[in-house]
Amino acid sequence: MAPLTVTADEIDLARQAAARVTALIEGAAATHGRALVSLTGGSTPRRLYANLADGRQPWRTRIPWSDVHLFWGDERHVPPDHRDSNYRMARETLLDHIPIPADHVHRIRAEMPAAEAAADYERTLSDVVSGAPGLRDVEGGRTWLFDVMLLGVGEDGHVASIFPGSDLLASHRPYRVAAVRAEHLKAWRITLTPEAILDSQSIVVLVSGERKAAAVRAAIAGPLDVKRCPAQLLRSADGRVEWLLDRKAAALL
Ligand code: 6PG
Repeated sequence: MAPLTVTADEIDLARQAAARVTALIEGAAATHGRALVSLTGGSTPRRLYANLADGRQPWRTRIPWSDVHLFWGDERHVPPDHRDSNYRMARETLLDHIPIPADHVHRIRAEMPAAEAAADYERTLSDVVSGAPGLRDVEGGRTWLFDVMLLGVGEDGHVASIFPGSDLLASHRPYRVAAVRAEHLKAWRITLTPEAILDSQSIVVLVSGERKAAAVRAAIAGPLDVKRCPAQLLRSADGRVEWLLDRKAAALL
């Protein structure tokens, strides 16, 4: 089973997550001169991002921001200044407070039509894979698309915008980004595919609150049914996944 850390509450969760994410980024930058990090959306990571940006805490100065490239695991189909935008949330809590070069921030351009935004982001990730200057040197052996993949989990067990029943769970795809219609939300989303999510050296799953306890239990310990609980897709990366939970989210384990 993937390593699992349970914290007293969401404050401690964000503090421990900041320490862990900082260490992972430092390690990647030290190993191959860059750290490609995929951020998660939603509300849980707000405190984590604020911790990483807070000059009074050790993380901001420890992280070599000029070696970091930031990506997103998914985005709502809204402009970047929309209140629901994952990019806007990260900009307000993190990007506006750290010395990261502007061309190291690779947001999903969700102001475009959804399919075009997905194709655009696919090209961005292809640049990473092709080792476009400044993004990725392909050394010998296995290199991962992302060094650090941050994820949350929805109450229904979704990760990124891969919701229960998603076609993305049905079969492997040669691409890394998809535009998906979330009927239950009456909205389009742009999301990394399971293949892209799993193409990561380290996957850190951050979950807080009692409302997530059932989804956490299903994801980690429930009978295998990925269509029903998409977070179970992480089981195929067992050695590279770690769960950071507060006590309420871990209550049913
Ligand atoms: C999003 C996220 C999504 C999120 C979960 C948990 O765009 O909302 O990428 O996958 O991580 O829905 O969201 P909360 O942290 O808000 O509970």
